[in-house]
Amino acid sequence: MLAMNLNLTPPEGGSFRDLNILITGASAGIGRALALHVAQLGATCLLLGRNIGALEAVYDEILEKGGPEPAIIPFDLSNLDPERLNEMVEAIADRYHTLDALVHNAAILGDRIPFQQYRLTTWSQVFRINFDAPVALTQALLPLLQRSNKGAILFMSSSVGKQPRAYWGAYASSKYAVEGFAKLLVDELHNTSNIRVSIVNPGATRTKMRKAAYPAEDPSSVKSPADLMPLLTVLISPFSDAPRGHRFESNGTGEPIGEV
Ligand SMILES: NC(=O)c1ccc[n+]([C@@H]2O[C@H](COP(=O)([O-])OP(=O)(O)OC[C@H]3O[C@@H](n4cnc5c(N)ncnc54)[C@H](OP(=O)(O)O)[C@@H]3O)[C@@H](O)[C@H]2O)c1
Repeated sequence: MLAMNLNLTPPEGGSFRDLNILITGASAGIGRALALHVAQLGATCLLLGRNIGALEAVYDEILEKGGPEPAIIPFDLSNLDPERLNEMVEAIADRYHTLDALVHNAAILGDRIPFQQYRLTTWSQVFRINFDAPVALTQALLPLLQRSNKGAILFMSSSVGKQPRAYWGAYASSKYAVEGFAKLLVDELHNTSNIRVSIVNPGATRTKMRKAAYPAEDPSSVKSPADLMPLLTVLISPFSDAPRGHRFESNGTGEPIGEV
């Protein structure tokens, strides 16, 4: 496979004006940082999450910093009731008509224990949020993404999504499944649509998930979510020349994940 290096020149201020970007898990960590960042570039953020208080804080911060008014989408991704999903999509379609980027960022870690001891209820919960939810949201929102000139779907994966490791249980397996689903989309969309599908492995990043996975680690020894912004913005920008159908590491190196 041909590896490539992405040009990570930051987009100009205001260049995301008139773009509608939906970010799952926008209440904390990388999703929160991305929402604040793209709003500063002029995008209208659709902040999806389960913690309304935390989403309101992101909403307020975007407005305080002069960004366009975002939307809060209260949605617990562990409950993918089709009726609620339809209502949500209809509300987005009515208000925004078009979606320019969908960022599948929300995830949970589950347990990090030997598979033999893994509780199947936890396993299902992890798969529901990390895998079923991106699949259901992609299917529901594809028509709105197709209305954009150059829509983007971004999957946040993990090193264990490419190469599962012992004791990473449902998290690794669900991310591996996510990467498989992204490859299917690349294959299915590359002749029929302009949508750019990408996978990112953000690598070690200072968030509550990282803290849960590595409680003894000094948080200052890993990069902050802000450090990922040049990469993530290039991958969701309709104006960048980032290739379609690639999987990227946090330093911008990427490889194709299908025929692109
Ligand atoms: N941080 C790292 O080192 C690292 C490394 C590799 C990959 N990643 C990936 O990067 C992405 C972001 O991770 P992060 O580190 O920023 O994690 P995080 O700080 O734990 O944030 C996860 C986000 O997902 C939301 N979420 C969880 N369950 C949800 C549900 N049922 N419904 C709706 N939202 C839900 C959380 O909401 P609440 O605030 O309500 O919990 C939060 O906003 C994930 O896909 C993760 O797998 C992270």
